[in-house]
Amino acid sequence: MVKEKITSLKELLEVLPECSGKDYVGLIKRIELDAMDFSPYQFWTKEHYTRNCIVRTESHELILLCWEEGQETPIHCHAGEECWVYLLQGEMKEVRYEDEKQTNIPLPIDEMVFKEGRFSYMNDEMGYHSLENTHQGRSMSLHLYMNPIDTCQVYNKEEKTFDWKTLSYHSKEGKLL
Ligand code: SIN
Repeated sequence: MVKEKITSLKELLEVLPECSGKDYVGLIKRIELDAMDFSPYQFWTKEHYTRNCIVRTESHELILLCWEEGQETPIHCHAGEECWVYLLQGEMKEVRYEDEKQTNIPLPIDEMVFKEGRFSYMNDEMGYHSLENTHQGRSMSLHLYMNPIDTCQVYNKEEKTFDWKTLSYHSKEGKLL
């Protein structure tokens, strides 16, 4: 019998390898996790939000993003992959954009503020997005990518261009890189 809720990182890591395709959406809806469980993976910098890899296989990547107040991503795509974001702590604002072909300036089409315990989903067919920590303090979000993403296109406001960017980790399996 499928257990209703996944309440620990240990449980999530046990279930993840059994998932493929549409299983991921069912999985993400079942999670009810506590930020305390993620203490070995929490790292912070004043300069930028940090990307901390918890597990990576050929089919998926589970990353903890740690955000100081006000830190944000640029507008970016997901290189053809699917992405689920579960908010472990704090508050995030997500803005979605569509590609404005004539001006090459991404057009905001939707905005959502999400709170602890809520999740969001994104893929390239839905456009581009940006995320920002709007909490008065730190936030932590858990990102599940299917498949792993090593590069994505990032919007350069000055040049009005989308440039390919290589994504990197701040830590892997709890060890600083
Ligand atoms: C990132 O992975 O650095 C960006 C966050 C996201 O779009 O999921």
